[in-house]
Amino acid sequence: MDKRFAVVLAAGQGTRMKSKLYKVLHPVCGKPMVEHVADEALKLSLSKLVTIVGHGAEEVRKQLGSKSEYALQNEQLGTAHAVKQAKEHLANEQGTTIVICGDTPLITAETMEALLLEHKKQDAKATVLTALAEDPAGYGRIIRGAKGEVSKIVEHKDATPEERLVQEVNTGTYCFDNEALFQALEQVSNDNVQGEYYLPDVIEILKNAGSSVAAYQTENFKETLGVNDRVALSMAEEYMRQRINKRHMQNGVSLIDPNNTYISPEAVIGRDTVIYPGTILKGKVAIGEDCLVGPNSELENCKVGDRSVIKQSVVSSSEVGNDVSIGPFAHIRPDSTIGNDVKIGNFVEIKKTQFGDRSKASHLSYVGDAEVGTDVNLGCGSITVNYDGKNKFLTKIEDGVFIGCNSNLVAPVTIQKGAYVAAGSTITETVPEDSLSIARARQVNKEDYVKKMRKK
Ligand code: UD1
Ligand code: CA
Repeated sequence: MDKRFAVVLAAGQGTRMKSKLYKVLHPVCGKPMVEHVADEALKLSLSKLVTIVGHGAEEVRKQLGSKSEYALQNEQLGTAHAVKQAKEHLANEQGTTIVICGDTPLITAETMEALLLEHKKQDAKATVLTALAEDPAGYGRIIRGAKGEVSKIVEHKDATPEERLVQEVNTGTYCFDNEALFQALEQVSNDNVQGEYYLPDVIEILKNAGSSVAAYQTENFKETLGVNDRVALSMAEEYMRQRINKRHMQNGVSLIDPNNTYISPEAVIGRDTVIYPGTILKGKVAIGEDCLVGPNSELENCKVGDRSVIKQSVVSSSEVGNDVSIGPFAHIRPDSTIGNDVKIGNFVEIKKTQFGDRSKASHLSYVGDAEVGTDVNLGCGSITVNYDGKNKFLTKIEDGVFIGCNSNLVAPVTIQKGAYVAAGSTITETVPEDSLSIARARQVNKEDYVKKMRKK
């Protein structure tokens, strides 16, 4: 197989987005557009991937990291000028170069493969990926000759009224014979309405030089959507969401309302798990089998075992075991590890805590900077007092401990194995193994006190 290269165009500012964030970094389902494009391109067994950066160059580099090589386009003089910046990386190479715009986040590796196949079949020097658009406004139009062959591409702004009627558009993805591409780029001029060097002009240049050029029309316009403004961004978001959700449903996950379920591209979900509406899964989330998540829950960068239930709750950067029940209205904050068969009930906040198997905090608790053993019961309103205004301290609650309701455990403090803490206690010192600690004022009843007061 001949060598394959890819160039991703990502140097533009994206003025039409009206944003501080550079266009290609705008997320679609939580992942920046340019990263969607790069990740799909990387599935093509490439010898090189070169991303053209300019506006927000540092940010784009940071986002893609070692996935790509980079070429800097100092001034944004157009898409042909952008590709030319990859010269140092590619000019001496032989093979096929696929060029993709960083603002077409829905393009898939399968479609790029189909384009490459057609390019090979036609033995063309250039093959453009086209699509039929219901509303082609804004896109470059594919102008075909008498025999249906591609003769050129005209930009919307440069097109005549008749040309604007053409519904076949340039998707911004092409493949080229690498050497022919760099030769043709030398001949592109900026004699057009926008005064820019247009990459699509390469098609006409090659054609006029007697090289064969081809077009491959994909049936799926949605996949080639170019995002220039926030209206298109919301459409991309919707299509991507549908694609992700469909994949999970086909894999055996039930989504009660897929239009109202937001799953990141990286999420992994086991079979027979049911996701209720209003659920957001962000970043690297892995959920096991037979779980129930939602409604209205947000999970970010976390791992959940099998058969666990998470209702109306937030879980961030934490691990949750099997057969766990969380919520409704619980908050699991970062760096927590929740064991198996655990119950975290309503209005419980857990932070940076190891929570052992079969332990429970069923109601109204704050547990932060703590190590909770196995078979522990934290009564309603139990609180770890972990912060003195300056520093955070550890609370250790060993196996089998029972903490009575409304207790304060003032850290650093240890409640040893099997100990009991009486309700309403404020514990400041170690509670020894198997002992009962009562740390509150003894009750005093003053008989008839109120009666006498009333008489006065
Ligand atoms: C481009 C095509 C158009 C096609 C459409 C598909 C050109 C001239 N037009 O139009 O035919 O229908 O895409 O979506 O190519 N960029 C750079 N450097 C530059 C200019 C642009 O890196 O100097 C990058 C942008 O960051 C963007 C991509 O190239 O990711 C496309 O540029 P954009 O301005 O969005 O082109 P369109 O007007 O959408
Ligand atoms: Ca565009």
